[in-house]
Amino acid sequence: MGKSSGSPDFEAYFSDKAKAMRASEVRELLKLVESSDVISLAGGLPAPETFPVEIIKKITEDVLTNHADKALQYGTTTGFTPLRLTLAEWMEKRYGIPAGDVEVMIVAGSQQALDLIGRVFINPGDIVVVEGPTYLAALNAFKYYEPEFVSIEMDDDGMRVDVLEEKLKKLKAEGKKVKFVYTVSTFQNPAGVTMSLERRKHLLELAKEYDFLIVEDGPYSELRYSGEPIPPIKHFDDEGRVLYLGTFSKIFAPGFRIGWIAAHPHFIRKLEIAKQAVDLCANPFGQVIAWKYVADGYLDEHIPKVIEFYKPRRDAMLEALEEYMPEGVKWTKPDGGMFIWVTLPEGIDTKLMMEKAVAKGVAYVPGEAFFAHRDVKNTMRLNFTYVPEEKIREGVKRLAETIEEEMKALKG
Ligand SMILES: Cc1ncc(COP(=O)(O)O)c(C=O)c1O
Repeated sequence: MGKSSGSPDFEAYFSDKAKAMRASEVRELLKLVESSDVISLAGGLPAPETFPVEIIKKITEDVLTNHADKALQYGTTTGFTPLRLTLAEWMEKRYGIPAGDVEVMIVAGSQQALDLIGRVFINPGDIVVVEGPTYLAALNAFKYYEPEFVSIEMDDDGMRVDVLEEKLKKLKAEGKKVKFVYTVSTFQNPAGVTMSLERRKHLLELAKEYDFLIVEDGPYSELRYSGEPIPPIKHFDDEGRVLYLGTFSKIFAPGFRIGWIAAHPHFIRKLEIAKQAVDLCANPFGQVIAWKYVADGYLDEHIPKVIEFYKPRRDAMLEALEEYMPEGVKWTKPDGGMFIWVTLPEGIDTKLMMEKAVAKGVAYVPGEAFFAHRDVKNTMRLNFTYVPEEKIREGVKRLAETIEEEMKALKG
């Protein structure tokens, strides 16, 4: 090797799009929390205690004994056919989505589905409607394809579809059209709320009237601790306008990285081509295991156990919020999922407050990054699935003290 004349300008090699990519400041902040004795209500992870380890051992033995040829070989891009068919049947049974109306493609977690959807549907400048707040990593996945985001506010019944309708009228008057609406319709991440039945139907009517698609992301749908199930929007979709995303991450184990897209075959054909270039196929070993997990009835047996494990944690957080939070603080009361959304009085910036909270021994995710336009400062996301009840109570108590002090300081 010749004598080095110093490092090249590393940054200069990146594409313009890569240059625009930024590490999430929240993630950087949370790294500091991981190692300390701070109670973190910030995470978004399922509890490892819910992973069905013994079942996985049993299935893995069976798969290696009887299906090694398929499990250890490359697979087709759309996925392992028995898994695809089994999932279609399972969705028909659970959600009333007719198996004959959809094709299922297996993806490397529903996160990959979001990226593929960006690739296949978004031209720069296309309008993509999201909830305000919405799933942060969906914003990041779509952003790469340079859409224009329109963010629609939410209340306890999910996205304000009436507000969307007004926006659609305005856009139409300007000669503009929405490409798709992205919604986490049930137990939303981050807000915890669920779109009401009436709004689901209204949204689909609007999709027909204004000719757009709906991307319905349902990773938490099965984690219901109270209330009655509501069918997904996809259930009412008689035109093939809804792409439904499912995942094993919260009902099996996220480590498998297996999710699925259920959509009209016309869309699946294009998504398949896009996926081919990304990874050829989703992990076949995991797919064969997941097939056995669903087909042999383990999934249906396991879901109630996960619910039983999380429900007391949800209850503990709601009770602690009720007990400790000062007047003027509001929060959602989710019937399921993993998150509660807290809104503080106007004027408090939860990102700036984070350092004080960490000093008191508690962490949360500041809400700003969950908004497409980062224009809301006084909110935060709390997770109730990862830490045990007594820590949840103590964490919320510490958080309430931090907020109380911040409110006093604000009043001056
Ligand atoms: C709304 C939403 N969509 C998608 C994902 C990604 O899940 P997966 O593990 O299937 O990639 C998550 C994960 O937290 C999520 O909250």
